[in-house]
Amino acid sequence: MTNHKYKIGIVGCGGIANAHMEGYNKINNVEVVAATDPVEMARDGYIHDYNIPNGYETIQEMLDDAQPEIVSVCVWHLLHDPVTVEVAKGKSVKGIICEKPMAIGMGRADRMVEACEENDVKLIISHQRRFTPGWQKARELVQKGAIGIPLRADLRVKDGLANWGTHSIDGARFVLDDPKALWVMGSVERNSEKHERGTVIEDSCMGLIHFEGGLQFFIQSDLWDNNCDAGKFFIRGTEGMIHITETKVKLFNASTGGWEDVDLGLKDGDKAIGGNSNAAQTLELIEWIEGGPEHRGSGRKARDTVEIMMAIYESARFNKVINLPLKEKEYPLEKMIEEGKLPISIEGKYDIRGFIDWANIDTEKYKNLRDDGLSHGESMRILHQENRNKN
Ligand SMILES: NC(=O)c1ccc[n+]([C@@H]2O[C@H](COP(=O)([O-])OP(=O)(O)OC[C@H]3O[C@@H](n4cnc5c(N)ncnc54)[C@H](O)[C@@H]3O)[C@@H](O)[C@H]2O)c1
Repeated sequence: MTNHKYKIGIVGCGGIANAHMEGYNKINNVEVVAATDPVEMARDGYIHDYNIPNGYETIQEMLDDAQPEIVSVCVWHLLHDPVTVEVAKGKSVKGIICEKPMAIGMGRADRMVEACEENDVKLIISHQRRFTPGWQKARELVQKGAIGIPLRADLRVKDGLANWGTHSIDGARFVLDDPKALWVMGSVERNSEKHERGTVIEDSCMGLIHFEGGLQFFIQSDLWDNNCDAGKFFIRGTEGMIHITETKVKLFNASTGGWEDVDLGLKDGDKAIGGNSNAAQTLELIEWIEGGPEHRGSGRKARDTVEIMMAIYESARFNKVINLPLKEKEYPLEKMIEEGKLPISIEGKYDIRGFIDWANIDTEKYKNLRDDGLSHGESMRILHQENRNKN
């Protein structure tokens, strides 16, 4: 890695942008020079909190004026593709770290990859858990044959397939060396007008994913397990089993004498979101920019996770097994709704992440709470609760 200090720009100054800053603050070869957010409160609070010299209302102003070389895209899902495409055209831009889920629909995901390739920009998707000690150790153990031939991964998530499922599917793919998915069978329920960060989502769903060599994943989302987590899954093989989280791994095979906690040598800052994982993710991007190997979380790899999720919806849409590659380029869940395949029995649009929305937030009160030392997230929760109490 060279000694070059990369200029960083942030798009979207909300919750996850704090995790990006945590990562940037842990490494020497970056300098965060600018942030953009159309919401003045969000932008001003963020540049103030992190001592960032420039704040802009629009992305174009930031690209023209601050000339960032790496840009963090920290906006809601449906903005990931238009923002990534816009940023990729920025003359100074060499790398983009876009948040998960990469995109809602294959057309959008592939446009992101194409725009970045056309502009010689390295695109990664922030499935930052690929850098956690638990997932890395599990990958190493599986590769050494600790569970024999992997047969089945069991994934349980909630709060929307695209929201948490993307991490879990991506994680099992990482641990199992990004196997090639061949077909998907899925089932979807949507009786209510559920959304997540402005995206239409299902009430619940499940999917069976079949990979080359006979490996399968089974994923259930928003069904019975409320203790589930985006980063937790279980893999069974011919010779053993492994429980995986970002910071804990338990192995069972002929030589462990029952379930054994695997020593991960955890360090300060090892966690699922932010800290060491976001820092390591950035360093590997810089290596890729400087001619090193493709990033483990590249857009090309992440688009395969999007394809699996979209194929689960597509399978439910047509009640059949979907062979990959997926032909549908749009969002199959939205298509099902348009086609009348998911009639609503509980009226009223709602968003399970409504508590982070800037709409209807009292700017003066927000500012006062921040001045009192509360974090962005704490302040938003209080103000949304006040709004609910009023209604
Ligand atoms: N990788 C992870 O573990 C992880 C965790 C949480 C969230 N996320 C992802 O991060 C993304 C953002 O989620 P969040 O919780 O931070 O949302 P948030 O609402 O807290 O922040 C989003 C910010 O983007 C701003 N914004 C909207 N349009 C913009 C535009 N055109 N240009 C610049 N800024 C704009 C909003 O004003 C807001 O301040 C989501 O896609 C979410 O899935 C990832």
